[in-house]
Amino acid sequence: MTTHKLLLLPGDGIGVEAMVQVERIIAFFNDRGGDNTFVTETELVGGACIDAHNVAVTDETMAKADAADAIIFGAVGGPTWDHVPYEIRPEAGLLRLRKDLDLFANLRPAICYPALADASSLKRELVEGLDILIVRELTGGTYFGEPKEIVTLENGEKRAVDTTVYTTGEIQRIVRVAFDLAAKRGNTVHSAEKRNVMRTGVLWHEVVTETHKADGSGVKLEHILADNCAMQLVRNPKQFDVIVTDNLFGDVLSDAAAMLTGSLGMLPSASLGAPDEKTGRRKALYEPVHGSAPDIAGQNLANPIATIASFGMALRYSLDMATEADLIDAAVASVLDEGLRTGDIMQDGMTQVGTDGMGDAILAALAKLST
Ligand code: IPM
Ligand code: MG
Repeated sequence: MTTHKLLLLPGDGIGVEAMVQVERIIAFFNDRGGDNTFVTETELVGGACIDAHNVAVTDETMAKADAADAIIFGAVGGPTWDHVPYEIRPEAGLLRLRKDLDLFANLRPAICYPALADASSLKRELVEGLDILIVRELTGGTYFGEPKEIVTLENGEKRAVDTTVYTTGEIQRIVRVAFDLAAKRGNTVHSAEKRNVMRTGVLWHEVVTETHKADGSGVKLEHILADNCAMQLVRNPKQFDVIVTDNLFGDVLSDAAAMLTGSLGMLPSASLGAPDEKTGRRKALYEPVHGSAPDIAGQNLANPIATIASFGMALRYSLDMATEADLIDAAVASVLDEGLRTGDIMQDGMTQVGTDGMGDAILAALAKLST
């Protein structure tokens, strides 16, 4: 019998109501019995944590995050905290978790469920069967480079600086993750950078090329400029298998890729650290790609599927529970096949349900599929 320690960080906005549905699924697995059980702790993060403690994540929560087998994260931010100083803002909590736990590898799958191909803004034939994995570097680049500041010049003007920095080692470790994953999928990696403009792009291109030579896995490597990659994603997305890219380009390209599948409300992600030398275990945080959606928060309108699928990724990548992860994926697919939709993926002839209703249906499908 294995007990898995989960830290739940619902955060703000729809993060809170989506996490409620994940807790119901955790309870389902615990009630069912079997070799795996879960213990959960829930803590504040983001704006909710600022309101209570004036920081976006506390040191106590960081210690729990460090000790957890997996962290399930909701979403952070919203206009309520627009006035909060930049250093304290809700997003700082998520960035601290990523940086302090060294979660450098962010996996963002963009998969188009057949039932949703018509919900995409692209034509069905362009997206049907789409299965892209974006591997985004998550602890370096423009997000964390120093200096990062706004200074006032002698003439009274202000000057803002962000710095993009990458070292050989940082590029090597993320591209190795991409090669390993591609070898288990479509065997092709596109590496996206801006070597025509940026020094970090020149180094990125060089290190990726050398790492590929040394890797010898037989994975096919293509280099692509990041702006062309954005264009190709909306022109012919099915040409891609795995895309590896830096932190900032990865942020932008993954939103574009996500929307191809019909809705941001569908997509999970995993942020992984390096395997521990002794145990082989990776620190890991799982979160939906979507944000806190303050405009629809608290109204039972949010789509909980991305957060539920993030929990599914935790089962698969951190907890060695692939059977249960498959079960969650099958339950989601069957509910979509039945025609149930939250507002974000609603189409003619389908049945609209709320966050709770979607949770009810997924639980019912889980119960049915697991008998
Ligand atoms: C994401 C989000 C975050 C990011 C924000 C909330 C800081 O957009 O995970 O893609 O920019 O990385
Ligand atoms: Mg983003």
